[in-house]
Formats: sequence, structure tokens, C-alpha cells
Amino acid sequence: MSHRIRKAVFPVAGLGTRFLPATKAIPKEMLTVVDRPVIQHVVDEARAAGIEHFVFVTGRNKQVIEDHFDRQYELEATLRQRGKTAELAKLEQDTPKAGATSFTRQQEPLGLGHAVWCARDVIGNEPFALLLPDMLHLGPKPCLAEMIEAHDRQGGNLIGVYPVADDETHQYGIVNVGGSREKVARIEAMVEKPPRGTAPSNLAISGRYILQPEIFDLLEKQERGAGGEIQLTDSMLKLAQSQVFHAVRFDGQVYDTGSKLGFLAANVAYAMAREDIAPEFRKQAAAILGL
Ligand code: G1P
Repeated sequence: MSHRIRKAVFPVAGLGTRFLPATKAIPKEMLTVVDRPVIQHVVDEARAAGIEHFVFVTGRNKQVIEDHFDRQYELEATLRQRGKTAELAKLEQDTPKAGATSFTRQQEPLGLGHAVWCARDVIGNEPFALLLPDMLHLGPKPCLAEMIEAHDRQGGNLIGVYPVADDETHQYGIVNVGGSREKVARIEAMVEKPPRGTAPSNLAISGRYILQPEIFDLLEKQERGAGGEIQLTDSMLKLAQSQVFHAVRFDGQVYDTGSKLGFLAANVAYAMAREDIAPEFRKQAAAILGL
């Protein structure tokens, strides 16, 4: 029987240079999609999948993320005084239990592989989930929940994937499942950001992973790869020589909020998914677009 997935890693050390000046004083993960910070959306997905412990790999100037997932007594007291019970209940619901979060620092921006390696002691010797906060997944069922169900059935390593346009494959990790149309399919090849025109398929790594702890030893020895960074994909390729990797196709929409257009599209899509906002938002958006 495979080990239950209890812990999730969130690498949040990135500088967010693509969003300057918005990210000069606040982390990019705290930018809001509708009324929730991007990182809260991703933590929501992990909680919905049954994750019990949230490990944030942070860096300088990211303290506000730690504050966001803590209780705020003055605010709670004021809300209580003013009888704002719904807001109070929502705050409580969004805050992880005491002791259910860990924060560790990456110290140097050496790449995603290095950020994941920084979580090794907090994770220990068990399989874990990894969620890249830039990537928001909107669909009928949370992406990570589908992946954990697949892991419960068959164990091993799993990677969330979704189809991207052929002219976008060079921006992502790409996997090949040998033409399989199954939702969960064995990965035959994997490549990080293939040069234009060389991708083995159009299935992109969506930023959701379930990994076995043996990845940490490989990351420890991993030399720098594409862009001079320690790449997670390079160590996953090594792990794939001794362990099975499956791709889990996500059938909803994936928004890359690390790009300005993806961020704007996510705000529109998440607003349209909100019953309290969608009807009026639809009218205003139609007026702006001249529809
Ligand atoms: C990382 C991964 C890549 C994945 C992407 C999703 O790249 O290395 O495989 O497709 O996230 O956003 P990055 O966006 O950090 O360059």
C-alpha cells in the first residue's frame, strides 16, 4: 500500500520581477485573484485534497506570507465587536491549524530544484505534494485531489499536465505519454523548456507534482541545468530511471498568473466562477468590451 500524502511544499521565494512595481514591497504570491491572494487559492486546493501540513519555502521580504496564514487577534476582536460573524468565520476557516505550517528559507535563488531540496528536513522520508503557486487550476475537481486519488491507487510519482498551444511548449516542462488519451498515463519522456519546434508533445507540466522522497538525494547532487539553475525536471528524469512516473491530465483551465495576461485572465475566470460576483461582473465586462 502506498504512503498517504500529508504534506505539501509551496516554493514562494521568487522575486516577481515580471510584476514590478506591484511586487516591490509585496510578494507576488500575495497579489489577489478576485479577493484572495494567489497563494491562498493554491493552499485552498491543497486543503481540499486533504493536505495536513503546509511547507513554504520562502526568501527575503516574504514575511507577509507567514502573517497571512497566522491568526490576527486585533482584526478578529474588531470583527467580533462589530458583529461581523460571517467574515470572522471565513477568516477562521482559511487559517491553517496551529502547528500545520512550516517556513524555511531558500537563501539563494538557485532554481526550483534547489527550492524543493530546501524542504527536505521538513518533509522527511515520505512522499509529498508540490504546488507551484503561479499556476492556478480552475475546474470541477481540484487538480491535486485527482492526483492524490491516483497515488492512493498506484503509488509512484505523478505530474499534473495540461495541453498548451504548440507555440507555447518552449515555456514549460513537456512530457510525452506515447499518444495515450487516458487521464492517468505513464510518462515515456520528459524535457524542460524544449527549444521551439522540438517538443515531443504539447502536454505541459502544470505545476502540480506528487514525488517520492528519493528525489531529495538526487536534488542534492543535481548540477545546474537550463538557465544556470538547479532544475527539478533534471532530477525527476534521473528518478525516472528507477521509479515510475505518471501524468495526470487536468481537464479544467490552468492560468499562469506569473504572466500579466494569465493573471488578468485568472481574475476574469475566478470572478465568473463566483455566484456573488458573476452576474454584475458579466454586465460590466460586456460594457468594457463593447459587447
Ligand atoms: C516550472 C517547471 C516547468 C513547469 C512550470 C509551470 O518552470 O520547471 O516544468 O512547466 O514551472 O509553471 P518555471 O515556470 O519555474 O520556469
